Amino acid sequence: MKCALVTGGSRGIGSAICQKLAEDSDYHILINYQSNQSAAEATLQKVIAAGNTGEILQFNVGNSEEVTAALTKWQDANPNAIVEVIVNNAGITKDGLFMWMSHDDWSQVINTSVNGFFNVTNFFMQKMLRNKYGRIVNLASVSGVKGTAGQANYSAAKGAIVAVTKALAQEVAKRNITVNAVAPGFIKSDMTSDLDEAELIKLVPVNRFGEAEEVADLVSFLVSRKASYITGEIININGGIYS
Ligand SMILES: NC(=O)c1ccc[n+]([C@@H]2O[C@H](COP(=O)([O-])OP(=O)(O)OC[C@H]3O[C@@H](n4cnc5c(N)ncnc54)[C@H](OP(=O)(O)O)[C@@H]3O)[C@@H](O)[C@H]2O)c1
Repeated sequence: MKCALVTGGSRGIGSAICQKLAEDSDYHILINYQSNQSAAEATLQKVIAAGNTGEILQFNVGNSEEVTAALTKWQDANPNAIVEVIVNNAGITKDGLFMWMSHDDWSQVINTSVNGFFNVTNFFMQKMLRNKYGRIVNLASVSGVKGTAGQANYSAAKGAIVAVTKALAQEVAKRNITVNAVAPGFIKSDMTSDLDEAELIKLVPVNRFGEAEEVADLVSFLVSRKASYITGEIININGGIYS
């Protein structure tokens, strides 16, 4: 059984990625979430409706013991399953000006993105290298490429994702494992629902926020065989915001 694991697959962009991979590939979809079980179940129903199989794996990507325990339990129960695709999508924001930022808001955002990437990806790395094939896609952000005022923590977290994508890509390329990142601008989801859309689209040449499905289409391409010669890239998907 070949599998694609999507962290934060319960809502928003992650849920759209689960659906799109179910439509476009034969992968068994592993849908991770942290706390919103009903949303994870709704994603699984959409995967099944697309004619594919999947299952839900609950863990906090930022908690290394929890990740290792959940993934070890799953791998032990499915000894022949091979995770060929990892989409590191789970992420949070805790916005605020740096001068007022609490240590908690700084470290939680970085922990979820950066340690979340490490905890999940590192668990599968040796197996993926032995398998001599893999696709890793990380969710970065325009904030991690150009930096965004009011999001120093998130910009730092996503900037780290940009750098580790390039570093890991070089380590594993010889084994047919590609590592890329997508860097969305403003995409409609719970994360952006409180933003002033009418004001912010003035920054976007395409003049609208993007849809989660548009990001999912890009991720689906990057995890496909068609994208074999693309690695270490950070692909902007932002409606033309210069970054
Ligand atoms: N929306 C945008 O405009 C935008 C732009 C650039 C980049 N991004 C990035 O794209 C990714 C998805 O964003 P989104 O807009 O879809 O966000 P969202 O609607 O807020 O959804 C976040 C998802 O991540 C999960 N999650 C959060 N913390 C987690 C943790 N510690 N462990 C496991 N799962 C966790 C949530 O699970 P629960 O449902 O269980 O809470 C949920 O499924 C993020 O990395 C974000 O930074 C988004």
